Amino acid sequence: MVIQWYPGHMAKAKRQVTEQLKKVDVVFELVDARIPYSSRNPMIDEVIQQKPRVVILNKKDMANLAELEKWATYFAEQGFYPVAVDAKHGKNLKQVEQAAIKATEEKFARERSKGLKPRAIRAMIVGIPNVGKSTLINKLANRAIAKTGNTPGVTKQQQWIKIGKSLQLLDTPGILWPKFEDQLVGKKLSITGAIKDSIVHLDEVAIYGLEFLRAHDYDNLVKHYNVDVSQDDDNIAWFEAIGRRRGLLQRGNEVDYEAVIELIINEIRNAKIGTYTFDIFSEIERDYFG
Ligand code: G4P
Repeated sequence: MVIQWYPGHMAKAKRQVTEQLKKVDVVFELVDARIPYSSRNPMIDEVIQQKPRVVILNKKDMANLAELEKWATYFAEQGFYPVAVDAKHGKNLKQVEQAAIKATEEKFARERSKGLKPRAIRAMIVGIPNVGKSTLINKLANRAIAKTGNTPGVTKQQQWIKIGKSLQLLDTPGILWPKFEDQLVGKKLSITGAIKDSIVHLDEVAIYGLEFLRAHDYDNLVKHYNVDVSQDDDNIAWFEAIGRRRGLLQRGNEVDYEAVIELIINEIRNAKIGTYTFDIFSEIERDYFG
């Protein structure tokens, strides 16, 4: 489902998440491991404030693992508890409970010292659309609880799901809006499928993806498409070569550019060519963290 975010929706989503946060000990901020900066809600720190936070870098299976390490270090330095998972295939999920235990250790020690009875840690998942919130809830719960798909805010009656020995998770995630302002962020959100319709033009998204792969994985790109194009050839030459090789032609034996654009976006989005982290830590640090 495509969500249009208007200021009213954003205010409502923020209000609803803020309300839900009161019920939990720890927040699971879910991000896409391919874009750990670009897939964060722009107001996330204001929404979560000082609540203990586990940053879950999801879709690990499609990301660059060396970059993932750098991002995990960064989030740990921010005082969060990072974990990288692949929710779709159920990988590393035990670490989520362990991170939640660590993140809430102090709070529970305080409760114990006041003589309060032991109880489960309460958590909720928060993130922008399509980062895998529903998939993660269903995998953690070991059954279908959350519908994949999106409705902003929190709509249905909520329940706690028991996970492992020590965790209770709200069955409805908090859905927040993505970053809108920055064109490059928009392209990254689109190339990873976080936004399926586009606030940026699809030709620009395909060109962004192609240029990223040319710069970072040229040999593999050429091999994947079985094309003979040099790194310095322009985008048209690449579109031409890929279109002809894949038979994406239209009347007059012309390359169907729209089909090539769609092909490139889909193949990058679904990690058919390789696994990439588009938010390269050193670049994000230079350009956004001042
Ligand atoms: P949301 O609730 O945050 O909006 O996200 P949702 O769970 O609906 O997941 C969005 C898409 O991301 C789904 O793909 C889902 O399968 C995929 N996904 C979630 N976690 C992972 C992961 O760890 N690895 C990979 N590779 N994919 C993941 P879809 O194309 O919309 O659906 P489907 O074709 O997979 O059923």
